[in-house]
Amino acid sequence: MKKFLLAIGVMSLLIALVVTGCNVGDREKQNFTEDKIDTENVTEPDLSQMKVGVCIYRFSDNYMTLFRRELESYLLKQGFSKENILILDSADSEIVQDRHVRTFIEEGVNALIVNPVDPTDVKTITNLAVEADIPLVYINREPDGDEEVRWEEGGWNVTYVGCDARQSGTIQGKIIADLGIENIDKNNDGVVQYIMIEGDPGNADTQFRTEYCIKALTDAGLESECLFKGFGNWERGVAEERVAEAIQSFPNAEVIFCNNDAMALGALSAVEKAGIRAGKEVKIVGVDALTDVLIAVLEGQMAGTVFNNYVDQAHFTADAVINYLNKENNPHYIGCDYVAVTADNAQTILENLAH
Ligand code: BGC
Repeated sequence: MKKFLLAIGVMSLLIALVVTGCNVGDREKQNFTEDKIDTENVTEPDLSQMKVGVCIYRFSDNYMTLFRRELESYLLKQGFSKENILILDSADSEIVQDRHVRTFIEEGVNALIVNPVDPTDVKTITNLAVEADIPLVYINREPDGDEEVRWEEGGWNVTYVGCDARQSGTIQGKIIADLGIENIDKNNDGVVQYIMIEGDPGNADTQFRTEYCIKALTDAGLESECLFKGFGNWERGVAEERVAEAIQSFPNAEVIFCNNDAMALGALSAVEKAGIRAGKEVKIVGVDALTDVLIAVLEGQMAGTVFNNYVDQAHFTADAVINYLNKENNPHYIGCDYVAVTADNAQTILENLAH
């Protein structure tokens, strides 16, 4: 009996040792694997597992639709999975956008991309992302200068991708000035009489495009006079109404500056409906290089536009996200150049964008 008990004791000890030994071995193996995964996570995260939350200020915005589609397709090409790219329409409401950002954070997204509804008031969004330690890339609607200072001072993973709106305004003004006053000045008074259709208030693109296109006329030695100025909210239909109103009072307007192409198309419709010959009697210029505008430029109905390179901006946005996920830094401002478009290069831009 004693021998039997001893045998059981020895067996138990052996089993215990083997089991313990196994456990130790497994734990070591597990630790090793964990270390390995950690290292991999630091240097090369598996992008197919990374969730990106994207908020677009308004899905019905023509330009942002092009941007959004390019962004999604480029993220997919970089290895993100379709189900992990979450894109929501803020429907032009700050409240909706804030709610979407909170939801994305609760759902554990790894990065945020935000096209702010109100670029003058993004503090809450920035704070939410920073507190949750989620990198944030703002796009297209540039937050106030104060914000960029906060990101810099806090050393936060927050950046902005966009173009300098002053440049687009300057290019618009030059396109008109380059036509020569003799080809613009219908009433021969030596002054450029114009209508200005703006985007939305509190937006850097609106403010600077409006200001710098006129500055470019002045710099080119042209005197100008504003006949009418109104907000078209970046929308074709709204702009059409504004321009229809304006040309009723000022049928002799010589130039219509529009802060974007959707509104330039609205201006074109209004002008045509009023029986004014676009391109001959009135010069229209926009920004973006939408396909219909490129065609109108080629057909001589519009003086030109300014290519707002959404392809590059979408790629820079995704690249900035990937850098953050790789634990690398980004500058707090990532810029992109605008390009002047006239009948000379509209065909090339059209062909390039078709690919
Ligand atoms: C584009 C507009 C767009 C706006 C939205 C601008 O950069 O040129 O077409 O509607 O951004 O804020």
